[in-house]
Amino acid sequence: MKTERILVTGGTGYIGSHTVVELQQAGYPVVIIDNLSNSDRAVLDGIERITGIRPDFVEADCTDLNALKDLFAKYPDIKGIINFAASKAVGESMHKPILYYRNNLNTLMNLLDLMEPNGVKGIVFSSSCTVYGEPDVNPVTEESPIKKATSPYGNTKQISEEIITDVINAGASFKSVILRYFNPVGAHPTAEIGELPNGVPQNLIPYLTQTAMGIRKELSVFGDDYNTPDGSCIRDYIDVVDLAKAHVIAVERMLQDKSEEKIEIFNLGTGRGVSVLELIAAFERATGVKVPHKIVGRRAGDIEKVWANPARANDVLGWTAATPLDDTMRSAWAWQCKLRERGIM
Ligand code: UFG
Repeated sequence: MKTERILVTGGTGYIGSHTVVELQQAGYPVVIIDNLSNSDRAVLDGIERITGIRPDFVEADCTDLNALKDLFAKYPDIKGIINFAASKAVGESMHKPILYYRNNLNTLMNLLDLMEPNGVKGIVFSSSCTVYGEPDVNPVTEESPIKKATSPYGNTKQISEEIITDVINAGASFKSVILRYFNPVGAHPTAEIGELPNGVPQNLIPYLTQTAMGIRKELSVFGDDYNTPDGSCIRDYIDVVDLAKAHVIAVERMLQDKSEEKIEIFNLGTGRGVSVLELIAAFERATGVKVPHKIVGRRAGDIEKVWANPARANDVLGWTAATPLDDTMRSAWAWQCKLRERGIM
């Protein structure tokens, strides 16, 4: 076991829980802080079943500065932070902007404030390809222009990147790695952890797997009149376990002082654009399960096409999104089946 502990905020959430698994398997002691606003304590059982280790868990809100101070006092061995704790529903953010700005920005500022006094060496921040908006050119590199955010959620990601940059440029003693995720999908291959959306899913894969299970009647494909080969939107779907592994590399890079720069930004994607209709076909091929679907009108605010150029992450981090799409589709389906087996969904 390593001696440097990693604080994972939002560690019972979708990407957070997969990252905790990879951290523990790499030998890092972990402490999770999560307010369980969009996750369940039972996720800790799933993590323990996979790794044989139950991560330390503090139920608290990262906007609560005193709770964070108590946590650092209790765990003086925290040397790295991975910050997943954030609200993430684009649509909800349009109706509840203050919730988004408060949660996402106060959490980040509280963490940044406490890093130096507690000797923390680095913070990994969850950002998003949403910062590129509708790109003029695909694939996007880290130098592609940042477009004006179209939702408060997207704006919190842009502002957070700026806050981190300003704090580091002001001479902070720590480093930061900003990871811009494309579309994370799939679940752990053991089906012990996965995505657990609240209510009717807004994202494609949970809606698709729930439709395949018969929970939803049919999947609506939002538009087939885009300027793409089959007319449906194109995204870069990245396996959540591949994504989780990149966080371990990123945090290690800061702990071991491997980078010259104090702040680094990486796109995390496969480099391959896949349309909605192609994704449905991939799911059906990989699982043998049909997905009833129909074409409906476009969804307001959707990006037509975006996919990553992940060359920097490939070269500098030595990381690639290695999981074949069909395997990811099978893991997403196995997780949906597990939820059914457990009577959850
Ligand atoms: N889609 C459908 N039917 C559905 C749901 C989605 O056709 O029922 C389509 C969308 O139109 C889009 C694609 O599937 O073309 C992916 O949609 P998601 O909602 O799964 O993902 P988005 O790319 O819209 O958004 C995701 C995250 C955001 C993040 C954004 C970055 O949900 O948090 O990527 O671009 F900001």
